[in-house]
Amino acid sequence: RACYATTMGDETSTSVATQSQEPAAVGAGSVKQQLSKLVTASLRTTVPEVEVEPMVEVCTAKFGDYQCNNAMGLWSRIKGSGTSFKNPNAIGQAIAKNLPPSDIIESTSVAGPGFVNIVLSNSWVAKRIQDMLVNGIKTWAPILPVKRAVLDFSSPNIAKEMHVGHLRSTIIGDTLARMFEFSNVEVLRRNHVGDWGTQFGMLIQYLFEKFPNWEEIGSQAIGDLQTFYKESKHRFDGDPEFKDRAQQAVVRLQGGEERYRAAWNKICEISRNEFDMVYKLLNVKLEEKGESFYNPFIPQVLEELNNKGLIKESEGAKVIFIEGHQIPLIVVKRDGGFNYASTDLAALWYRLNVEKAEWIIYVTDVGQQQHFDMFFNAARMAGWLPDPKEKKFPKTNHVGFGLVLGSDGKRFRTRSTEVVRLIELLDEAKSRSKSELLQRLTENGKIVDWTEEELEKTSEAVGYGAVKYADLKNNRLTNYTFSFEQMLSDKGNTAVYLQYAHARICSIIRKSNKDVEELKMSGSISLDHPDERVLGLYLIRFAEVVEEACTNLLPNVLCEYLYNLSEMFTKFYTNCQVVGSPEETSRLLLCQATAVVMRQCFELLGITPVYKL
Ligand code: ARG
Repeated sequence: RACYATTMGDETSTSVATQSQEPAAVGAGSVKQQLSKLVTASLRTTVPEVEVEPMVEVCTAKFGDYQCNNAMGLWSRIKGSGTSFKNPNAIGQAIAKNLPPSDIIESTSVAGPGFVNIVLSNSWVAKRIQDMLVNGIKTWAPILPVKRAVLDFSSPNIAKEMHVGHLRSTIIGDTLARMFEFSNVEVLRRNHVGDWGTQFGMLIQYLFEKFPNWEEIGSQAIGDLQTFYKESKHRFDGDPEFKDRAQQAVVRLQGGEERYRAAWNKICEISRNEFDMVYKLLNVKLEEKGESFYNPFIPQVLEELNNKGLIKESEGAKVIFIEGHQIPLIVVKRDGGFNYASTDLAALWYRLNVEKAEWIIYVTDVGQQQHFDMFFNAARMAGWLPDPKEKKFPKTNHVGFGLVLGSDGKRFRTRSTEVVRLIELLDEAKSRSKSELLQRLTENGKIVDWTEEELEKTSEAVGYGAVKYADLKNNRLTNYTFSFEQMLSDKGNTAVYLQYAHARICSIIRKSNKDVEELKMSGSISLDHPDERVLGLYLIRFAEVVEEACTNLLPNVLCEYLYNLSEMFTKFYTNCQVVGSPEETSRLLLCQATAVVMRQCFELLGITPVYKL
């Protein structure tokens, strides 16, 4: 049961409220989703007495393109209940026979214990590709089971540096947001900035004492907030009198005293400007709703939890005991202050009840898994979320990721500073890609064709894209080693290789001197050569790959697809002459479709495609 918005005061509600109950899909969903519909219809006729989900998968055997695997499971449910079926194979036969007539399927066959192999019709595959060329790739969007999601990602902390972990969160979160948006889900991109808490009293007090003329000094003078933060912490830990003053400062800040609020605002502003530089380079859009935003909701949320009997006293703190966890979740500290967990509970309450999000996704390093696990459980105990076993919405997910390692196998750091200066890192990726590009262009005598602006834009696209792709191509849970050499190599599974592959397809099309915009309207695609068919089938799998990446929250699934697609294209191009062949039109359209799908993958990964390299 999804929680659809009906009446809500804020403007975010309108798009959901005006939509119908059906998912707002442009196309009819992925191939798998379309086949699943046919299978569902067949299952209703074949075994009306039981209701099961259709199980349709891509077929790895050579007997089919897709496969329906329902027969065995059904057999174990109905055998011995007086069914007329003799064995799972017989059920498979019946499923195949009862598939409603459709132009998608060319033929079926049943193997062993009832696997139904499905061969897609070439003309349907060709038509689906051509339709996409004519009507846009958005028609290939998968259908997801939610309309509105919150993606909580990036989320650095004020006055502390944004480090490489935040970079991972930003890159992974952004690509997930892009994939959901492509799939017609409204995404609330939330930057849960750490902008509240006792540390601000400490920092403000320190700054007031260090700069007696605080009101007059410009932001420039306090630009290096991290250093002041560290110094203030040092002072706080070592000087009890300062600690006292810092604690009073917290009270005054939280009480809303003008001078303290103004200082807090100034500090946030400085940090925000720094974060924004990184977001701008990465072309990432986010809406900041920091911890302070949820602060006013904490008391009422805790009251609700208390009324439900969840909150207990423990060693002076207020806590929630959670089954399976040794230590309880602290929601009010011994000094009466709120913490990370109380803020997250209030934020979740807000996202569920005010923003009416059906899926709430948090992207942080795996180190925070326990925190999320505990507070998700607390929310379930409060009845905010259904049992995850029920596979219902609303639901929450923690998208954890591993460490970035340096060449020494230790946590990745830049030379001198403790945390990586992200901007410098991105700059270096860009300048390295620029010098490699220059070298290659000079060697090939092509440098004359390039304007300075093209050079700049291309090295940015390639350099930043390389950083993103190197991160996204790994399963996010594994640690990976940061290496400029590797990510900027034009060989292997790298963004640079893929940019070249895409640019090469663009150049094939350019050199044909044919107008593909015209061809896609007048010409048609045929898939007679085996390598054409393999490429065509892989192209139309795009939607289900996006669906899988969204469902399992795994961007690497899309990277793998993109890489395989470029390999399949190479095989096709090696074995099928394009320009000057009798199949030229059809093959140029396949080139174009590959380029369009590759570009859409780049787009979803937040990488700017390059058309010439
Ligand atoms: N600010 C936190 C950090 O730097 C991440 C916040 C993640 N989001 C959340 N709702 N807890 O580790």
